[in-house]
Amino acid sequence: MTQACGPAAGSVSVQAWLGDCGLPRADALALLRDLAGLSHASVLAHPEGLLAGDTLQALRRAAERVRAGEPLAYVLGWREFWGLRLRVGPQVLVPRPETELLVEFALGRLGARQEADVLDLGTGSGAIAIALAHERAHARVQAVDASADALALARDNARRLLPPTRAGGALRWHLGDWMGALPNPDERFDLILSNPPYVAEHDEHLQALRFEPLLALVGARACDDGLGDIRELVRQAAPRLRAGAWLALEHGHDQAAAVRALLEGAGLLDAHSLRDLAGIERVSAARAPGHAGPSPHARA
Ligand SMILES: C[S@@+](CC[C@H](N)C(=O)[O-])C[C@H]1O[C@@H](n2cnc3c(N)ncnc32)[C@H](O)[C@@H]1O
Repeated sequence: MTQACGPAAGSVSVQAWLGDCGLPRADALALLRDLAGLSHASVLAHPEGLLAGDTLQALRRAAERVRAGEPLAYVLGWREFWGLRLRVGPQVLVPRPETELLVEFALGRLGARQEADVLDLGTGSGAIAIALAHERAHARVQAVDASADALALARDNARRLLPPTRAGGALRWHLGDWMGALPNPDERFDLILSNPPYVAEHDEHLQALRFEPLLALVGARACDDGLGDIRELVRQAAPRLRAGAWLALEHGHDQAAAVRALLEGAGLLDAHSLRDLAGIERVSAARAPGHAGPSPHARA
């Protein structure tokens, strides 16, 4: 940005760009911050400052993408989740604030316990797995996804956001179909979490979500009620819980009762749902029978 005596040819003031770009103010300010290096404070202090050249071109191209419906996070290339700046792109779902409820639930179940075996099924950008690894330095976190491109991005996020020993060591990534991706079929977990695909095949909202991967939204078991992958995941994951361990799933706003029934049908106990900030039942969880003992890996 340059300070102007009068507008130079091919340049526009910050104020004029904000007025003309056709975006909600918060989105326009985010583009100015990331593409023109202008903080909100400097926009307020110098609305007369000029935008020109490559910066103006980049802002115009980015605004056009957002106006066309592309998520701002893809245009910026990142989204904050649990206070961590995750890289995102069209190969992964944009992490949603509601999903932080799963992380909160997980931390509540782990309590002060530092050591635990935790599994994130359908990790996408790595949001849940990385947030947990960040909060519990000694938890052994594993993450699964059916998309190799998503896993590559998740690994990259872990590399950037976690200490080197953490990203490469106790955090492990597996490519494949739900529990079938894990190398050891006998392994059990203290906590299994998932934000799986749960959008029904013909849901009218899919049009608005068209920039995000269909595998993340509808999954490979597309069906009318959106529960195809949740049914399979509960069936596969329930027997892999240690005694007293919890399985928690995010789901659609009208799926809580059905998901609780699936959890109970798989022999799990204390099925209940948690509401998000909008009061919507967003996460359902249940635990394996028995009492949680110390992890077999716990340090003496
Ligand atoms: C709704 S997204 C959640 C992404 C991330 N956990 C989040 O909360 O932002 C679901 C993820 O599950 C993955 N997925 C879909 N079907 C799968 C399957 N059968 N096995 C493993 N992962 C699958 C998708 O690739 C996608 O990354």
